Amino acid sequence: MCGIVGYVGEKQARDVVVEGLRLLEYRGYDSAGIALVAGGELGQTVLVSDKRAGKLANLEKAIAEDALPAATTGIGHTRWATHGAPNDVNAHPHLGPQRRVAVVHNGILENFARLRDELERAGHDLLSETDTEVAAHLIENEVLAGADLTTAMQNVCRRLEGAFTLVAIDAHDPSRVVAARRNSPLVVGLGVGENFIGSDVAAFIEHTREALELGQDQVVTITRDAVAVSDFDGNEAQGRQYHVDWDLAAAEKDGYDWFMRKEIFEQPRAIADALLGRHDENGQLQLDEVRISDDELRDIDKIVIIACGTSNYAAMVAKYAIEHWTRIPCEIELSHEFRYRDPILTRNTLVVAISQSGETADTLMAIRHAKKQKAKVLAICNTNGSTIPRESDAVIYTHAGPEIGVASTKGFLTQLVACYLLGLYLAQVRGTKYGDEIAAVVGELAAMSDRVQQVLDDADRVYALAERFKDTTSVLFIGRHAGFPVALEGALKLKELAYIHAEGFAAGELKHGPIALIEPGLPVFCVVPPRGRDQLHDKMISAIQEIRARGALTIVLAEADDDEVTPYADVFIPLPTVPTLLQPLVATVPLQLFACELATLMGHDVDQPRNLAKSVTVE
Ligand code: AGP
Repeated sequence: MCGIVGYVGEKQARDVVVEGLRLLEYRGYDSAGIALVAGGELGQTVLVSDKRAGKLANLEKAIAEDALPAATTGIGHTRWATHGAPNDVNAHPHLGPQRRVAVVHNGILENFARLRDELERAGHDLLSETDTEVAAHLIENEVLAGADLTTAMQNVCRRLEGAFTLVAIDAHDPSRVVAARRNSPLVVGLGVGENFIGSDVAAFIEHTREALELGQDQVVTITRDAVAVSDFDGNEAQGRQYHVDWDLAAAEKDGYDWFMRKEIFEQPRAIADALLGRHDENGQLQLDEVRISDDELRDIDKIVIIACGTSNYAAMVAKYAIEHWTRIPCEIELSHEFRYRDPILTRNTLVVAISQSGETADTLMAIRHAKKQKAKVLAICNTNGSTIPRESDAVIYTHAGPEIGVASTKGFLTQLVACYLLGLYLAQVRGTKYGDEIAAVVGELAAMSDRVQQVLDDADRVYALAERFKDTTSVLFIGRHAGFPVALEGALKLKELAYIHAEGFAAGELKHGPIALIEPGLPVFCVVPPRGRDQLHDKMISAIQEIRARGALTIVLAEADDDEVTPYADVFIPLPTVPTLLQPLVATVPLQLFACELATLMGHDVDQPRNLAKSVTVE
């Protein structure tokens, strides 16, 4: 989850690297650092480096006061701490003892302790607590022994275990930057007279939109005019070139105060994009990227959906829809729990991995386990070229565009759309729903952009609520059926952004204990299902009456004309009328707006909440 940039070309490396780090800062902001290969005395080039704890601005301030020399080769890093506290010493880049090699790293070297012991027994003095510094010493050892930087990287990577993206430069060789990856993001930007390395394309899309995706266990050497890919044994290998269709503007804030708020308001567009080209005029689905044959899909007898965090709540919503439409048993499992519970998987199991970033280590390791058990793996992902879809048998991209805010919003809603599409596609292939029934749901999905826009048009109502509760210290969320995962997601947004106690419950669970939490004035968001499912709707009203009788302040989200529930609402948030299974698409939006606005009123950094990172690439 760190941000990495590498550059070699004709421009000032300092400027290219710092700008790239700025666009990657959402990947981690515990510290930032830069290293350049610059001219030294007697014609010998040297390494020049600076690094500071805290956000990129701290580094920029430092290098403004003590300007770095001109250089056209350099690397940079923004860190999310894994080994070692976020301080100057542990910040990247890390240099070898003779300042010959500088290294930046994303991931965890699982055998670094043993390697560190080996180095210390050989007399090396390591200054930091990081695993990265071990890699810097090992690579420098190889270079000092006569290997070029590429060979040095290959030799060291063969000894490493764990997840890593490593990027290195050699003080005596300004012509190249060398990088390697295993289980961690890395992409090459292909320029003219210059080339780039990045954790993702945001690092370089203002310079080039031609990118090269690397495979597992590969080393890439970039010079001004060439890019060479090899495996860890030095055998020539190939990357996959592709065109990046994200403009830089798409990653900018477009006038909003936060990326998150911009992304909340992008959701109507994102939902439409997630549907684009996936159904014909008769409402029949065509999911080209699902590279699992219809016969294999017909043989599926169990589905297991794995994910973390918000994506896990998308999985919970998906279960209701997929089971209802396909009658295939659907299990939900947190990725980090999945492989340790020894799941029962066969060739007829479809494992669905939901991940916005496509780099979540817990989910990546889970799909690896599933593939070893011969299950079919389908990824639902927002990030083209990321590791999880690349290692899956099939993928449904959510096409939400870059999601920069650490708290997922449009990523979540487009995951729901992709899950609905998967469920309908399975129903279509297996014949569990007639074509006209599928077309009817597809038609409802196609109308959801407008329904979500209706909720967004009413945002001021939610902002007023945030103003009213800006000093609150605890909020509860309740829902039933597909509204239960919505309650959990609403609670998570508040925890992530406002740093206050927030908890979601299945409304039916209250009387089994949580109702003891209810006290006068406690705000409780109540997600009420549409009236089409009376038993569900009536039971939800009973739950609202129970908590109101004990003094709770009920904030009721329900269909705009639901006059059965309005008498029990202290605050009423009207929702458009939509089918029960699709209601999460509209019910989630007021909860996103509430959390975003409350955190803003509290003066928090909404885009980069404390302790969090956009993509958790360590287990
Ligand atoms: C969502 O707001 C959180 N930032 C977090 O729970 C996130 O959903 C989770 O880490 C999974 O990330 P992924 O979808 O990229 O795998």
